[in-house]
Order: sequence, then C-alpha cells, then structure tokens
Amino acid sequence: MSEIRLSSEKRLRLFAGRGFPELADEVAAELGIPLTPTSAYDFANGEIFVRFEESVRGCDAFVIQSHTNPVNKQIMEQLIMVDALKRASAKRITVVAPFYGYARQDKKSRGREPITARLMADLFKTAGADRLMCVDLHTSQIQGFFDGPVDHLFALPMLANYVGSKVDRSRLTIVSPDSGRVRVAERWSDLLGGCPIAFIHKTRDPRIPNESTTGRVVGDVQGQTCVVIDDMIDTAGTITKAVEALFDAGAADVIIAATHAVLSGPAVDRLKSSRASEVVITNTLPITEDQKFDNLTVLSIAPLLARAIREVFEDGSVTSLFDGHS
Ligand code: R5P
Repeated sequence: MSEIRLSSEKRLRLFAGRGFPELADEVAAELGIPLTPTSAYDFANGEIFVRFEESVRGCDAFVIQSHTNPVNKQIMEQLIMVDALKRASAKRITVVAPFYGYARQDKKSRGREPITARLMADLFKTAGADRLMCVDLHTSQIQGFFDGPVDHLFALPMLANYVGSKVDRSRLTIVSPDSGRVRVAERWSDLLGGCPIAFIHKTRDPRIPNESTTGRVVGDVQGQTCVVIDDMIDTAGTITKAVEALFDAGAADVIIAATHAVLSGPAVDRLKSSRASEVVITNTLPITEDQKFDNLTVLSIAPLLARAIREVFEDGSVTSLFDGHS
C-alpha cells in the first residue's frame, strides 16, 4: 500500500486587491514572497469579479487592500476576495486594511445614525475573515468591534523617530488638533523625551461633514517647534486650521505628521499653501504624482506590515514590534 504523508506545514500567501497594488508589491518584496496571481475585473454595471489563479487550499492568507477612493469599491472587492478564499478552503484569512475605511463613524453622535466602523467589522467577519490587521485605527476601541483577533499596528514610532531626528527636541511641542487625540500626543511625547504637549480646542458641527471650526490653542507654544499630529488628513481643514492657530499663538515652526493621507478635494492645495515647514505622512493610502509637493515626506508603511504579517504567520508577537509603545 502506498504511503500517505500528511503535511502540517503552513503556507503564507499574500493577495492584493486593486486599491493600491504598489504597496502590496512592497510588502511582498519585504517578505520575499510573490503575490498570488489574481484576476479581478468589473462587470459593466460595476459588480466585481475576482478569481485566484492558483490553489489556495490550506494556506494562511493575508489579503491587502487599501480603502482608498472609491472606498466602497475597494471594501467590496476585499470582501469578495475573502469570500473566494473561504470557499476555496484557505486555512486562515487575515484582512489587511492599512487604512480601515468608515472608522470615523465609531459611535452615534446623534439619534438615528449608523455605527459604520462596527458594520465594517461585521461584514468582514461574515465574509469569512479570521483576523484583521490595521494601522492607526481612528479609535482603539474599534478593535473590539471585530469578533476575532485584531492586530492594531502603529505608525507612531516611525513618524516620531523621523521627526525626532530632524528637530531640536529642547524646543519641541507635540500638538493634538483636537481634545480626542491628546493621549496619542502623550505617546509622541514619551517617545521624544517627554517634550510638552498642547492641543487645539476644536468644535465641529456633526451635521456638516468635513467642516471643523478651530478654536484656541491650549498650552504654551510661544517660540516652539510644534508637531501637529493626526490619524488622517482628509480635506486637510482640521490640520491646516491647527497650523494657523499655532502660528497665531506664537509658534516658531510647525510640522504636520499624520498616518493616513486621504487627501480629498482641497487637501493638497490647503497643505501646499499652509505655513507648515514639512508634511510627513505614510503610504497606507496611495499618493499620486500630482498630489506630491516639495515639503511632503512619505514614509513607507510596508516594512511594518511585512514584519507584522511574518509575526502572525509564525505565531510570534506583534506587540514586540512596538518596543512597549503599543
Ligand atoms: C477627526 O476626528 C479625524 O481624526 C481627523 O482630524 C479628520 O477626519 C480630518 O479631516 P479633515 O482633514 O477633512 O479636516
């Protein structure tokens, strides 16, 4: 009788949606593995078709998709990829969403509103995702919306190391553009030797999307180099108003640092004409050539994603990637 050998060896497989294939390529290169060949196209009415061109049975699947504009399409494509993997008997499926779309609606501000951050988590679970991996969720508690492990990665150490290497830390103040991000500003401060923090008292009318009213600076920024931090720059209204408020309050210099460059509508023009000396972002979302400008610095998130994917695949520790700053 011929012998049957049972292999329990896991296979790491990387799958890329069409949202930002260049980032997936970078992650694959960091990991030293190819992306699994995948066919994807749109039907005439916009419906999406996906098929993997190789067997995925038994693999440890990581599905990378950046929820970039058009965000609904990218999310739907990722859901369809997860469904296809589940039906093709992948052993474990991890949704890698460097920027997790719909995260800003994480609670009801008024009656009769949705909680889309939760809906997203439910959709991924229903499609067949076993795990989620994201970078700088709008709020940490979104992790609890997904019924399964969530690897919440932080761009903060990378951004802070970069900024810290360029400024005189004795004149540095970290600024949160609203009261909700003060805890993050404190983490920046911890990483940069305990520099002072300040925040902008921002008010927003919840009935008007993408419109913020910047109030006053809380904290002394006179003569300081201010680093104003945020999780995302969408229309850049929040952050450029913060820059103005800081100069008005006597700041000597302002640097903008944010993880997700959504860059909708007037964002690039606002950033270009702002008085910030540098805008530092990561590439969780694609930055097109015409969105680039002289004082824009884009740090790659690919090495962090690759390291986290490797840790998950090898049953290692994702927390260890942050040297205690998780
Ligand atoms: C708000 O809570 C977020 O953290 C960002 O500050 C906001 O989404 C940025 O949006 P915009 O660039 O359109 O002002």
